[in-house]
Amino acid sequence: MIQQVPLGTQGLVVSRQGLGCMGMSEFYGQGDDAESTATIQRALDLGVTFLDTADMYGPHTNEVLVGKAITGRRDEVQLATKFGNMRDPDDPRKRGVNGRPEYVREAVEGSLKRLGVDHIDLYYQHRVDPDTPIEETVGAMGALVEEGKVRYLGLSEAAPETIRRAHATFPISALQTEYSIWARQPEAEIIPTVRELGIGFVPYSPLGRGFLTGKVRSLDELAEDDFRRYQPRFAGDNLAHNVAIVEKIDAIAKDKGATAAQIALAWVHAQGADMVPIPGTKRRRYLEENAAALEIVLDADDLARLGEAGQAAGDRYADMTPVDR
Ligand SMILES: NC(=O)c1ccc[n+]([C@@H]2O[C@H](COP(=O)([O-])OP(=O)(O)OC[C@H]3O[C@@H](n4cnc5c(N)ncnc54)[C@H](OP(=O)(O)O)[C@@H]3O)[C@@H](O)[C@H]2O)c1
Repeated sequence: MIQQVPLGTQGLVVSRQGLGCMGMSEFYGQGDDAESTATIQRALDLGVTFLDTADMYGPHTNEVLVGKAITGRRDEVQLATKFGNMRDPDDPRKRGVNGRPEYVREAVEGSLKRLGVDHIDLYYQHRVDPDTPIEETVGAMGALVEEGKVRYLGLSEAAPETIRRAHATFPISALQTEYSIWARQPEAEIIPTVRELGIGFVPYSPLGRGFLTGKVRSLDELAEDDFRRYQPRFAGDNLAHNVAIVEKIDAIAKDKGATAAQIALAWVHAQGADMVPIPGTKRRRYLEENAAALEIVLDADDLARLGEAGQAAGDRYADMTPVDR
C-alpha cells in the first residue's frame, strides 16, 4: 500500500501520490467511463486515495464520475476539487474566472451535489480572480471550513504574494501548480514560499501532460479534439525541441529498467517529501505503472542527468490569461 503523508502543516493527510481524474472526462482524447471508474477503484485498492477533480472538467461531468466511483468508499478518499474557472456554455474553450464570495458559496453547493458527498477534503481556488481581492475569496472559503462543508483549503497557480495574503486570511494547506522535469519555474519563488509557510505542494501535470512518458511524439498520435493539439508546447519547432528532452528521459529509463513515466514521477518525488504529485490517467495499466514509480530511487548521477534534460519550449497554455503575478 502507498504511504499516507501530511500535506502542509494544517493536518491534511493524503497518499504519497494522487490520481488526477481530469483526463477521464476531457482534454486528452476519448474516455471510457467504465475503465475510468475501474481505475479510480483500483487506485483506492493500491492506497492512491488522493483524488483530484474540478467543477469545470467535463465541463461539469468529471465530479459526477468521481463521485459515483467512490460510492461506498468515501471514507478511504481524500477528495480534492476546485472552483472558479468558468466555462462559456457556447464555447467551452473560452475561460473566465470568478472568485467573488457569493460565487464561492454557489460553487461549493454545485460540487457537493455533483460529487454526492457532504464534505470536500481539499477545496482549491482554481485560478486567482484579478478582480476580487484574495482576502474576500479566501474569507468565503474559510467560512465553508467553519461550516464543515470543506476540510482544508488550497490555491492553484497563485503567485507568492497572493499565497501570503491568502494564508494570512485563512490557513492554506496546499498549492497546486504545474511542475515536472521540463517545467521547473516554481523552484525560483513558489516552492520556497510554500515551504516557508508550511503549505504542501501538489505538482500537476507531472508527466508533462503525457509528453514525458515518451508515448506522444507527434500530433498524429492525438485525437482530433485533444486539447494538446492546440497548445504551444506541442506545436512546430517547440515540439522538436521537446521531443529531444523526452529522448534524454527515455535513455535514463532504459538504464534503470523503468519506464519514462516512472522516471518523471521519481524525479518529482526526489525533490521533496512535501510534494504530492497527481499524475493523471484513465487506465488501470498506467495507474499501476505510475504507483510503482514510488519504488524507484534516483541517485545523484541520475538526478544530474535529468537536471540537464532541458526546459520545455512553449507556454503552458495557448491563452495564458489571467496569470497571477
Ligand atoms: N490546477 C490546474 O490548473 C490543473 C491543470 C492541469 C491538470 N490538473 C490536474 O492534474 C492532473 C494531472 O495532470 P494532467 O492529467 O494534465 O497531466 P499528466 O499527469 O502530466 O499526464 C496525463 C497524460 O499522461 C498519460 N499517462 C499517464 N500515465 C502514463 C503512463 N504510465 N504511460 C503513458 N502515458 C501515461 C495519460 O494518458 P491516458 O489519458 O491515456 O491515461 C494522460 O494523457 C489532472 O488530471 C488534473 O486533475 C490541474
